[in-house]
Amino acid sequence: MAETPIWSVEAEPNRLAEAAALLQAGEVVAFPTETVYGLGADAGSDEAVAKIFAAKGRPSDNPLIVHLAGREQLEQVVASEPGAVEQALMAAFWPGPLTLVLPAREGALSPRVTAGLATVAVRVPDHPLALALLRACGRPLAAPSANRSGRPSPTTAAHVALDLDGRVAAILDGGATGVGLESTVVQVVDTAEGRPVVHILRPGGVTMQQIRTILGDDIEVFIADQHVEAASAPRAPGMKYAHYAPKGEMTVVQSDSADQTAQWIAAQLAGSSDCIGILTYEENLEKYQHLMQSVDTPLTIVTCGSWHDPASVARHLYAAIRQFDEFGATRIFAEAYPLLDGGLGHAVMNRLIKAAGNQMVQLK
Ligand code: TXA
Ligand code: MG
Repeated sequence: MAETPIWSVEAEPNRLAEAAALLQAGEVVAFPTETVYGLGADAGSDEAVAKIFAAKGRPSDNPLIVHLAGREQLEQVVASEPGAVEQALMAAFWPGPLTLVLPAREGALSPRVTAGLATVAVRVPDHPLALALLRACGRPLAAPSANRSGRPSPTTAAHVALDLDGRVAAILDGGATGVGLESTVVQVVDTAEGRPVVHILRPGGVTMQQIRTILGDDIEVFIADQHVEAASAPRAPGMKYAHYAPKGEMTVVQSDSADQTAQWIAAQLAGSSDCIGILTYEENLEKYQHLMQSVDTPLTIVTCGSWHDPASVARHLYAAIRQFDEFGATRIFAEAYPLLDGGLGHAVMNRLIKAAGNQMVQLK
């Protein structure tokens, strides 16, 4: 395929109809959402959806999220009217970064979308360009994150081009995405007594706190996350794969003291012949700056938002990880993110640990 065009709809409004026509013709097009860029294709077309898997190099047993223009399209893709808990979640968080796993309507979707499961993951993205594209092409779009499989999700059109240039028909440029991490994937499961329980299969842009606030104390909500609940197998099939990874080897360093973390990381650099990357937060940057003078090996220090502002960390995380690749870092040390109080910090740590392939050091 020739080089992929990157279109700015703001500069050239007619590109929106062009992108919609490509999708209707069974091509794949990348577009921004409020979380990360997605790689869209007609969810009803087997041939079109196959192109997503080919472009990404994605394992075929990892199902895709179906994106809708609005709640009114839901019945096109699900088998039955969602229950009261799902209704409450949709009312509160759509459009927005919440994906619901629901029984799939038979025959409505390419079987590749659901990877043969009886359920389908659906969401309504909260981004004007995504919604305009969905409306213009008039059909649900299957769209995983627009990265090569295993790479960090793209938060700019340039990231998409780095991974997928020449492999997709077009990229719509809507600037940097706002949330920066993917949607929260949720499944409501009935207990043996018929009580609905909310399982968070992938932490993301909507936090556990927000879900609890909407549903109240009577509904149980928990994170079925392999790194928090090691006992349970991941139920979002995608969670078992290596993800979000930089090219260098990465270790997440956790301790109760930022000074201790910085000292430990500095000690690792002595005598190292690696090209080193350090991921830190605004408040801690000064703890590393002396290393720029004292260390002989190439070193880059990347600041990823503020320690006190998980949303800023989420927004910058994937770009930060990609910066290490640009620098050519072969060994990366990332400070753990400390705020795990049911907020966005949980999703940040989930992605960091995955980016590190589970390599984590806990300092005593
Ligand atoms: O924010 C997002 O969710 C982005 C944007 C583009 O919308 N999309 C995204 O898609 O992150 P993807 O394919 O990278 O991740 C989809 C996740 C995977 O972990 C997958 O296993 C899970 O959703 N998933 C999809 N269908 C499922 C199903 N039927 N049951 C359980 N998990 C499912
Ligand atoms: Mg992805």
